[in-house]
Amino acid sequence: MAQEIRTVMVVGAGQMGSGIAQVAAQTGLRVLLHDVKLALAERGRGVIEKNLRRQVEKGRLSDGDVAEILGRITLTDKLTAAAEADLVIEAATENLEIKLDIFRTLDEAAPAHAILASNTSSLPITELAAATRRPAQVIGMHFFNPVPVMKLVEIIRGLATAQEVYETVRALAERMGKTPVEVQDFPGFVSNRVLMPMINEAIYCVYEGVATPEAVDQVMKLGMNHPMGPLELADFIGLDTCLAIMEVLYEGFGDPKYRPCPLLRKYVKAGWLGRKTGRGFYTYA
Ligand code: 3HC
Repeated sequence: MAQEIRTVMVVGAGQMGSGIAQVAAQTGLRVLLHDVKLALAERGRGVIEKNLRRQVEKGRLSDGDVAEILGRITLTDKLTAAAEADLVIEAATENLEIKLDIFRTLDEAAPAHAILASNTSSLPITELAAATRRPAQVIGMHFFNPVPVMKLVEIIRGLATAQEVYETVRALAERMGKTPVEVQDFPGFVSNRVLMPMINEAIYCVYEGVATPEAVDQVMKLGMNHPMGPLELADFIGLDTCLAIMEVLYEGFGDPKYRPCPLLRKYVKAGWLGRKTGRGFYTYA
């Protein structure tokens, strides 16, 4: 039986966390939006407000709706705010040590009934669960960027995830207007096990001089009907995130077919992380 979720805490107010917080608040849920500094949480709320104002311009929301939605969001820089949450969705940086630390702290702070979910793109849910005293209440809830637009939520069952927890999270994803798809806990799940090797291969095409980034992207857009070419998409996701996911696949399967392209490593070392730093395979104003 699904449990009732009224208050959701989102940990991390970056591009994924703020998107999740926006959709949750638009669903009518009370949202606690967390980041390590209040200024970062405020920036996240700023992005949400900008997105909602665009909806007003398109005549889909009124000014009153925007005020109501924003009024459901409380900002915090304390993980102990989890004490008020029925569900926590962690959307912090893709680093296992950082996430393990967050899960240990959330486990201390959250009420006994609360579910702890991670929006991780590839890290093991079972390992995050094992860092807590409530492994049955830990699950993966993987959203896609831009969260307000993309329909999919990949729901990842850890080894110990309880059926009731799975059903609760599935029902919530549907309430949020998303389509949940169930997958098991293996490196990269399904989405990034398929997507990232394609992006990595596109980077190899540039690295080996097969084609320019523009040409690679044109091939995939015009020939395969992808809305964005793989290199444009890599810049959109963040090249550091792409590299982190390739490392998880490479280490997790121990198979050389997942080795990250040296050019991807080089760009990340240079701080060329894509859109968010103004430069990746393309440059951004
Ligand atoms: N936030 C909110 N809404 C956004 C948005 C954003 N950042 N960007 C675009 N939108 C909305 C627009 O407002 C518009 O809404 P409307 O149709 O209701 O008016 C709609 O999306 C279409 O936008 P545009 O017309 O400006 O642009 P496009 O038609 O080019 O679409 C796109 C933009 C939806 C981003 C499209 O290019 C696309 O689907 N790209 C692929 C995205 C993708 O593959 N995402 C998954 C990445 S992988 C991931 O997230 C997993 C992680 O683990 C790595």
